[in-house]
Amino acid sequence: MNTRETLKINEKGHLAIGGADCTELAERFGTPLYVFDEAHIRNMMRMYRQAVCDEYDGNGLVLYASKAFSCMAIYAIAREEGIGVDVVSGGELYTALKAGFPAERIYMHGNNKLPSELKEAIEAGVGCIVVDSELEAERIEAEAASRGVVQKVLLRINPGVEAHTHAYVQTATPDSKFGFSVANGTAQEMTKRLLGMEHLALKGFHCHIGSQIFEKDSFVLAVERCLAFVKEIKYSYGFEAEELNLGGGFGIWYTDEDEMMSVEGYRTYLTALFSAVRRECARYGLRLPRILLEPGRSIVGEAGITLYTVGAIKEIPGLRKYVAVDGGMFDNPRFALYGSKYTAVLANRADEPPCELVSVAGKCCESGDLIGVGMSLPRVKTGDLLAILSTGAYNYSMASNYNRNLIPPAVLVRDGEAEYIVKPQSYEDLVRNDVLPRSLTPNN
Ligand code: LLP
Repeated sequence: MNTRETLKINEKGHLAIGGADCTELAERFGTPLYVFDEAHIRNMMRMYRQAVCDEYDGNGLVLYASKAFSCMAIYAIAREEGIGVDVVSGGELYTALKAGFPAERIYMHGNNKLPSELKEAIEAGVGCIVVDSELEAERIEAEAASRGVVQKVLLRINPGVEAHTHAYVQTATPDSKFGFSVANGTAQEMTKRLLGMEHLALKGFHCHIGSQIFEKDSFVLAVERCLAFVKEIKYSYGFEAEELNLGGGFGIWYTDEDEMMSVEGYRTYLTALFSAVRRECARYGLRLPRILLEPGRSIVGEAGITLYTVGAIKEIPGLRKYVAVDGGMFDNPRFALYGSKYTAVLANRADEPPCELVSVAGKCCESGDLIGVGMSLPRVKTGDLLAILSTGAYNYSMASNYNRNLIPPAVLVRDGEAEYIVKPQSYEDLVRNDVLPRSLTPNN
């Protein structure tokens, strides 16, 4: 699935997502609003699952990287689709379990998992913990020993692949807080340590080179480096990895600078990956490991949009026109963080051709609170409904209550019908955990 299939302009000239008219969604649920197309999400999950079945004899598992969008409904969808999930915190783990997600299909990540998070994961019986520090390995060993269990683990290695993406989302460069470097020998040393731990069962290795990546070559290089490492470990320590987790990172369409990939397009990436695995294993005489993939953005990114109502419009002659919306960096911090680019559509007049370039601003007290600059739109008026596309990944999950703005609710559209998957916050929610000490209470 891609944006072209999920979004349509209907007979009224309105933008529709998954068959639901955006103006009706805005009227019923208000704005700002995150909207997700369920069919899109399921199709992407199925595409990954099918690729593992067809091209790798089903010897693998797709883990949805839930940091991209985490709420109970998404774990329930992943459960129904028969895939696993990757969680990176006690909070994501809790949400998954609360949605009835089977613990054995949960992989736990994080470069500094808290002792409490490790305890929760082991207690829940998660399928695997991806070890990312020596301290953590010791803590898992102690926790598992105290419970008399053996915890399956993978070791996160850094294969030293520089993927062409934003520096903030590159994860396998020499200077990275993630993983153990193969180049400087710490990955080898750490493997040896893990093999000596009684309550840890090392299953293999994990690598993730970054996010929003379009070059096949980077993924293939990562496979080559990982399997060369697997071979080295086999010959040095007699341990042959049963599992190789290749992480996530496939790119999605945000603007016409990006490729809009079809299901078949994504399949060509997976074909390249699986054939690289087969080729390298044959080369080194290794048995084929079980392959895990951790796509996040490519599953939910293009499945989601954000709807905003246009408020103040301010023209600075000779400079730019600001169109302010009722959201901003509190529901989408990606422009402020990474200078990310998006496409805007005037949802209530989606059939009108664009005629001007505007900057879409948020409502936060911060100059950098923009959704985008140079966005091409028809002449926008106060009260118009603006849709920002491809906001399904890393928008809701990175939202905050900055300026005490309310995090927008999210709805899921199925066959043109929408329902809440995340309810609206209230002002009461904002003060729920605030405490007014007695000395500060009015009339005290
Ligand atoms: N596996 C691991 C270990 C990861 O760290 C990540 C993403 C994924 C899988 C999923 O990658 P994806 O398929 O979604 O590219 N907030 C940033 C993205 C951070 C990605 C963090 N790790 C953004 O908004 O672009």
